[in-house]
Amino acid sequence: MSQFSRKRVRNHPPKPCVSLQRPQLSEELFRQLRDLVYEKSGMFFNDGRKYLLESRMENRMKALGLEKFEDYYYLLKYSPEGEVEFRALFDEITINETSFFRNPPQMKVFQEHILPEFLRFKRFKQLKIWSAGCSTGEEPYTLAILVLEVLGVKVSQWFVDILGVDISRTVLERAQKGEYGEYTLRHMPPDLVQKYFLKEGPIWRVKDEVKKLLRFEEMNLADPAQIRRVRGMDIIFCRNVLIYFDMEVKKRVVASFYDSLNPGGYLFIGHSESLHGISRAFKLVHFPEVIVYKKER
Ligand SMILES: C[S@@+](CC[C@H](N)C(=O)[O-])C[C@H]1O[C@@H](n2cnc3c(N)ncnc32)[C@H](O)[C@@H]1O
Repeated sequence: MSQFSRKRVRNHPPKPCVSLQRPQLSEELFRQLRDLVYEKSGMFFNDGRKYLLESRMENRMKALGLEKFEDYYYLLKYSPEGEVEFRALFDEITINETSFFRNPPQMKVFQEHILPEFLRFKRFKQLKIWSAGCSTGEEPYTLAILVLEVLGVKVSQWFVDILGVDISRTVLERAQKGEYGEYTLRHMPPDLVQKYFLKEGPIWRVKDEVKKLLRFEEMNLADPAQIRRVRGMDIIFCRNVLIYFDMEVKKRVVASFYDSLNPGGYLFIGHSESLHGISRAFKLVHFPEVIVYKKER
């Protein structure tokens, strides 16, 4: 080193030590946190998804001003605020992607085959539909719109009850509002948008005639006590939700759906999902591009 450079080094006071390092998460603590999340929600993060859980927990830690994963674990497991924090964490780790008329072939089958079958054969004019893992509400609102389309003026003679549930309170609050931007309506036929929404600036608001067919509830599908309360359903939609669960929870949830359905009832799961290895209780009903699962009479 030259004289000059040595002098420069000596003349500068050492910089304050600001740690730019991310908090460290040991394998052991990751497993403990992951097991805690699994216990509470049924959502399972395998080793390959460690980064996802870690980065979402880091977001929560930043919001809370915590620097160590140990402290975050303690908060979740032992603190009285743990339950509240779990909700905030679920909002971070769930993927809430959805849209109106998501997977149009399934909606076509619902509208043209499943609904007419119920309307023809039901002894009592009561139709109960469950959207399990409904996110911000697009799925149950779509189902309500199709019920209105199929029933027309006869809707007043029917008791229609569409239940939307989700583990995330934040998405349910948005669902309850029933206000949407243009993008989520992209798969919906424009005439139905005009018929069932009111436009207010950039916002499309669901009309009351649709809203009154629905109710929303916070529910953890992985909790057997909560899911067992739902009975007498004619049709269940649980699309793109089972992917969160490991095999044990998937089996339990699908078995509960079976019990929740009336004989002759139908279960729709996500287009790319299957009940292979999960349940053999249902009869598979094939339509072009779509499989629906039926509880036989
Ligand atoms: C990808 S969205 C699917 C929304 C809609 N079913 C669809 O297909 O468009 C998955 C939803 O499942 C919810 N979810 C995840 N785990 C859940 C659980 N244990 N109980 C209830 N809802 C859950 C998430 O909060 C999220 O809103």
